[in-house]
Amino acid sequence: MKSAVVTGAAGFLGSHLCDALVAKGYFVIGLDNLSTGDKKNISHLLPQTDKFIFFQCDVVEPWEKWVAQISASVLQQVEYIFHFASPASPIHYKRLSLETLWANSVGLGHALNFAQSTSARVVFASTSEVYGDPEIHPQPETYWGNVNSFGERACYDEAKRFGEALIYSFNLKHQSQHGIVRIFNTYGPRMSRDDGRLIVNFLKRAQENKPLMIYGSGQQTRTFCYVSDLIAGVMAYANSNICEPLNLGGFEEVTILDVAERVKHSFGDKVGVEFFEATQDDPQRRKPDLRKSLEILAPWRPSIGLDEGIERMAEWMRQCD
Ligand SMILES: NC(=O)c1ccc[n+]([C@@H]2O[C@H](COP(=O)([O-])OP(=O)(O)OC[C@H]3O[C@@H](n4cnc5c(N)ncnc54)[C@H](O)[C@@H]3O)[C@@H](O)[C@H]2O)c1
Repeated sequence: MKSAVVTGAAGFLGSHLCDALVAKGYFVIGLDNLSTGDKKNISHLLPQTDKFIFFQCDVVEPWEKWVAQISASVLQQVEYIFHFASPASPIHYKRLSLETLWANSVGLGHALNFAQSTSARVVFASTSEVYGDPEIHPQPETYWGNVNSFGERACYDEAKRFGEALIYSFNLKHQSQHGIVRIFNTYGPRMSRDDGRLIVNFLKRAQENKPLMIYGSGQQTRTFCYVSDLIAGVMAYANSNICEPLNLGGFEEVTILDVAERVKHSFGDKVGVEFFEATQDDPQRRKPDLRKSLEILAPWRPSIGLDEGIERMAEWMRQCD
């Protein structure tokens, strides 16, 4: 039976990736230290011991401990290692700054070394943050970025940039075929309600009848990708033989204020907005240039628009209550 390793398996994206892999017939080995994730996200998979196994462990620690518990025949069948373990929201990576640096460097190093022994392909979850506060718009993969290496976001931005450089050098030295997806803002069910990321935060505040909190003028722009579209893109990338980074994200560029209006609208315009001081190094504009991804990963293409995605997510949040 073919198998795959997902680090960060109990997180938002990792858990959806586990679902997609199980659905495709993979035996999935999930790793997570639960620092920002939640076992609830994979509770539906846990009884399926013939399809999924979970180890609560820190990917920065040596991997031998959990590897020793897996049979050699399963290990030989590992086709993919999705390295998604990392704090991802600003609230968490500022709180866990060193852990963030280690997860994307030492943790990724363990994934690459493990892959050597099994001939698996590593897919590393990088981010649009590698572009920093971009001077080029939209951002193509060839843009090198405008990143502050000595500020409160640096632990995340530079960790991901290091991770990309590590994969580049590893591939060169070992003639391996590991790859990188540059993920732009993604949202959907299983996002933690408390990690402060935009859409989940707005929806939570609206549900609680509290004003939506906007940092800065609200004129900053972003794109948003619904989780099922993103996971389809990650799977298509994994299945390709490309090693260069590819952007994955949504098409529609909207201001933060516009997102607030849409969320307000879906809650009957009952809540207001409140403005707060902008956060340090917050990018002003962000939009992926998707031309390369659409060409290479065809027929992949994000299909769920922002209004529909917000409705789906609001419905999920109502059901969780
Ligand atoms: N969601 C997005 O919009 C987005 C955008 C760009 C990049 N990414 C990347 O995708 C990945 C997943 O992000 P997410 O949104 O699902 O965040 P998340 O916080 O929901 O998931 C991350 C998971 O990694 C686990 N983790 C963190 N450090 C670990 C460690 N040392 N050992 C084991 N597990 C560890 C956490 O407990 C959590 O379950 C991250 O690498 C993130 O940088 C996400």
